Amino acid sequence: MLHSIQLAPSLLAADHSNLIEGIKVIEANELKWVHLDIMDGHFVPNLSFGPQLIKDLRSKSDLFFDVHLMLDNPHQYITPFIEAGADQITIHLEPGYPVEDTLKQIKSAGINCGVVLNPDTPIEAAKPYLSISDIVLVMSVVPGFGGQPFREDVLPKIKQLAEWRADENFAYRIEVDGGVDLSNAPQCLANGADTLVAGTSFYKAEDKQAFVQALTAS
Ligand code: DX5
Ligand code: ZN
Repeated sequence: MLHSIQLAPSLLAADHSNLIEGIKVIEANELKWVHLDIMDGHFVPNLSFGPQLIKDLRSKSDLFFDVHLMLDNPHQYITPFIEAGADQITIHLEPGYPVEDTLKQIKSAGINCGVVLNPDTPIEAAKPYLSISDIVLVMSVVPGFGGQPFREDVLPKIKQLAEWRADENFAYRIEVDGGVDLSNAPQCLANGADTLVAGTSFYKAEDKQAFVQALTAS
């Protein structure tokens, strides 16, 4: 496999009155990534975190900050999230804005960039951006809320991304986000995903060590 499997817990599912504890639980389980969901109440019908939270967490953690922007105007917020300490920023393909320029802006700051596709967005929409992307994020729920059921109909998109990656010698990671748990992680990995976001299933797991082991070994 091109990339080692990463499990990125989504802090959205942690206790928002004690987010640093949500970070510490990730570190205690020897995971390297945290997935940070940024919502604007327009592109998705919910609100979550802003750059200030990322900045404050940055001073307390060395985790890899995987920042998922769910915004109508992501290009207007790249600089604040870079300055706040993002290690990677992913941007959706559905809103109308200059996607390629925005990816280049992210890359020119020396951090990773990637594109995100909603469940009903055809995978072909990602094609023009594959050579510049460090990661492609396939949503397995309609974004906006944690705790939704995984949509199996996105699995062919994961497979197609893996095929294109092999055929064209691309190096992007393939990330899956939404409803990922022990029952569907094996299918994600078998189809070529190497990066799994898990919110509810991670924070609700009583034995997190066993959960992490099972999910990443599946
Ligand atoms: C959905 C977010 C996801 C979410 C995943 O809008 O992008 O990252 O936090 O949470 P679970 O794993 O609970 O579906
Ligand atoms: Zn997300």
